[in-house]
Amino acid sequence: MTIILDGKKSANSIIETLRKKTAPLKQKPGLAVILANDNPASRIYVKTKEKKAKEAGFNSFVYQFDNNTTNNQIIDLIDKLNKNPDIHGILVQLPLFSRLDEQKIIEAIDPKKDVDGFHPINVGKLHIGIEPHAVCCTPRGIIRLLKDYNITLEGKNAVVIGRSNIVGKPIAALLLKENATVCIAHSRTKNLQEITKKADILISATGIPLLIKEDFVKEGAIVVDVGIIKNEEGRIIGDVDFSEVSKKTSYITPVPGGVGPMTIAMLLDNTYELYKDSINEKL
Ligand code: GUN
Repeated sequence: MTIILDGKKSANSIIETLRKKTAPLKQKPGLAVILANDNPASRIYVKTKEKKAKEAGFNSFVYQFDNNTTNNQIIDLIDKLNKNPDIHGILVQLPLFSRLDEQKIIEAIDPKKDVDGFHPINVGKLHIGIEPHAVCCTPRGIIRLLKDYNITLEGKNAVVIGRSNIVGKPIAALLLKENATVCIAHSRTKNLQEITKKADILISATGIPLLIKEDFVKEGAIVVDVGIIKNEEGRIIGDVDFSEVSKKTSYITPVPGGVGPMTIAMLLDNTYELYKDSINEKL
């Protein structure tokens, strides 16, 4: 029988812990979220982030831009947020409108307020093995969820499908840090199934609905599904064909209720850590 890695439960407990920590604080952790995209999914993510930030007792500010916005208008706002002592974390929801320069905008964020860990300084630190100001939320959430279930990573064969900067590359770095043996597969990988069948831990972050079938997975594997896709009936599904694959796994994340809630919990935890760092800096 497989064990469901219940991200919702873990995330709720993290948020509850944060709420208790922030309750007695005079100055609350402050999170600023910038939305410059009219993608309905991004809007829902941002709304959820705002709601959960408030649940944790944080101050939350959302800045919405339309498709006429220039890079400089967003960078001007980021400059102001960088200087604002009430803001501890700045998040630019990705993707941006295609005319905007994503890299230039991310690089405008002060690395000490880069709650997503996307700034090259933080990415560089992560890959060198120096503590970044913050680690990307989805990969950090995956590791945290595995640890909440006492899953050891050392010496395990981990296969990551996807090489994005948001999930694939940083989760590979975090798995390496935990002494797993890591393989990154991607859209040009040949014989994907041969590779995934060797995985003790399979992390799929492709966004291809139900790509991972029973015969992609070895008996007893741990499967983490990062995909969140709305199907034709409006139901949220993942990369993994849960009903088939869960017959073979030892642990598996559901979609929804697995990685998604952990991403938000880690965003809030990162905000709190950046808040603490800013207080300690002043002492
Ligand atoms: N778009 C999809 N995932 C993320 C994330 O973790 N952070 C940001 N900023 N944008 C995203």
